[in-house]
Amino acid sequence: MTDTLQIKDHIRQVPDFPKPGILFYDISTLLAHGAAWRATVDRMADIVGKMRPDKLIGIESRGFLVTAPVAYRLGCGFVMVRKKGKLPGSVIPHNYELEYGTDTVEIQSDAVKPRDRVVVLDDLLATGGTMRAAIELLRKVGAEVLGAAFVIELDFLGGRNRLDVPVSSIVHYDH
Ligand code: PRP
Ligand code: MG
Repeated sequence: MTDTLQIKDHIRQVPDFPKPGILFYDISTLLAHGAAWRATVDRMADIVGKMRPDKLIGIESRGFLVTAPVAYRLGCGFVMVRKKGKLPGSVIPHNYELEYGTDTVEIQSDAVKPRDRVVVLDDLLATGGTMRAAIELLRKVGAEVLGAAFVIELDFLGGRNRLDVPVSSIVHYDH
């Protein structure tokens, strides 16, 4: 249960969700399968651990599912990047461009210290816009971003070309 093909077998593809013409890569089936999910977390932990991070950053919301268990495995801190208005206390916001309009992500002001070595995790790399925004936010607070790690990468969207850090993904789709 440790090779890529078997992990891929547990990712469900749902056509026409959330809109007609979109193929949704659903990790619910991976999460629901104990051995496949453990293999996924173990592989992510192997990849991320090699970068020797101080803290792991998870992106709301599906990114939290991946990041928390990997942080536990590695004994790293886990810090949340959340959508606007979700985090209490003092926060640092970052606005970023979407295809139509803008969006904002936030991190708590004291969550990451300048020069902290961090790796950012998410479930899926599509266009790269979400990860790029998280990386920009982390640099704003002075963190050293060592890399980005994903369970799934949609290679055909070229998201990694929008990221200027090493990118690792354990499952790839080319169409
Ligand atoms: C999905 C996915 C990634 C992002 C990838 O999150 O979980 O975070 O999109 O897309 P991109 O590379 O084109 O930016 P979504 O915004 O749907 O929210 P969720 O995680 O809260 O479900
Ligand atoms: Mg997401």
